[in-house]
Amino acid sequence: LALPVVDADLERRLVERLARIEELLAEHCKGRTRYVSEAATHLMMAGGKRFRPLLVLLAAEAGTHPDAEEVNTAACVVELTHVASLYHDDVMDEAALRRGADTANARWDNLVAILTGDFLFGRSSELTADLGPDAVRIQARTFTQLVEGQILETVKPGPGEDPLEHYLEVVAGKTGSLIATSARYGAMFGGARPEVVEALSAYGEIVGSSFQLSDDILDIASESVTSGKTPGTDLREGVPTLPVLMAQASTDPADARLLELLGRPLTDDSEHAEALGLLRAHPAMQEAREYVLGQATQAKKLLEVLDPGPVRTALESFADTVATRTA
Ligand code: FPP
Ligand code: MG
Ligand code: MG
Repeated sequence: LALPVVDADLERRLVERLARIEELLAEHCKGRTRYVSEAATHLMMAGGKRFRPLLVLLAAEAGTHPDAEEVNTAACVVELTHVASLYHDDVMDEAALRRGADTANARWDNLVAILTGDFLFGRSSELTADLGPDAVRIQARTFTQLVEGQILETVKPGPGEDPLEHYLEVVAGKTGSLIATSARYGAMFGGARPEVVEALSAYGEIVGSSFQLSDDILDIASESVTSGKTPGTDLREGVPTLPVLMAQASTDPADARLLELLGRPLTDDSEHAEALGLLRAHPAMQEAREYVLGQATQAKKLLEVLDPGPVRTALESFADTVATRTA
C-alpha cells in the first residue's frame, strides 16, 4: 500500500479491496476488438499508484457502510477517468514515457492514444450511470473542471493576472477536481454524514492540488528511474510550475542566468540541462516543498469533523504522504 497505515485491520481491508479494484479495472479495459483492449490495458496496467481509488476506499471508511458495491464502482470510475485523461495529456505534452513505459502516442500514434482515452472515458461514463443521477451530475461537473484546468494551462495568465494564482487555478482544475470527487464519492457511497461528505471533498481538493504540486516539484528534482517519466518535461515545454514561479520572484542578481532561461521553451538540450541544474540547487525548491507542507496542514484540519481513530489517522497520513512524495 502506498500509504503508511497504522491500523493492521484497516490496512488488510484496503489491500484486499484494491486487489478487487485491480481485477475490475482490467475487465473494464476490454473492448470489442483486440486493438482497443491492448491499447487501453497498456497504460492502465503499467503500474499506477491507484491514488484516486485508494482515496475513494479510505473516505468510504468514514461512513456507515464502507463495503457497499457502489464504492468499488466509484473507485473504478475515478481511475478510468484519470487514465483516460493521461492518454490525452501525453498527446498534448508529446510525452514519450509514463509509468516507466512508452506512452500510447509513442508506441502507436496520436490517433490511437486519443481514441483510447475516449474509450476509457466512455467506460467510466457507463459505470457512473450505474451510480445514479447524483453521480452523473458530479461526474459531468468534474469532467468540465478537468478540461477547463487543462485549457487554462495552455492559455497563459492574462495581463495583470498573478502567474502563481493562475497556476494554482490550473492545478485545482486539472488535478484537484478529480481527487476531490474521489473523496466525495467514497464518503457519499460509504454512507457518511453530509457534513463529512463536504469536509472530505474539500480535503480531497487540497490534497489533490498538493499531489500535482509535488508532481511538479518531482518533475524537476527526480531522475526518470524513480519517476518513470522524463525529468524536466514542464521546463522543456515552458510550462511554469511552483518552483519555477517561486524562482522567478527572485531579485538576486546571481539568478540572472536562470531567469533568462526560464519562461521560454527550452528545446536546446544543453540549455535545458543548465536550467534544470540551476533550479535543482535553488532555494525555490525548498520554498515550494514548504508551501505543499502548509497545504497538508490545512487539509488535515478539515478532518476534525471525524472522530479520532484509525480512519482519521490514515487520512492524515495520506495528506502527509502526498506532501512528502519522492516518487
Ligand atoms: C497531467 O498533468 C494531466 C492531468 C492531471 C489532466 C489532464 C486533463 C485532460 C487531458 C482533459 C481530460 C480528458 C479526458 C478524456 C478525461 P501533467 O501533464 O502536468 O502531469 P504528468 O507529469 O503526469 O504528465
Ligand atoms: Mg503530462
Ligand atoms: Mg500536461
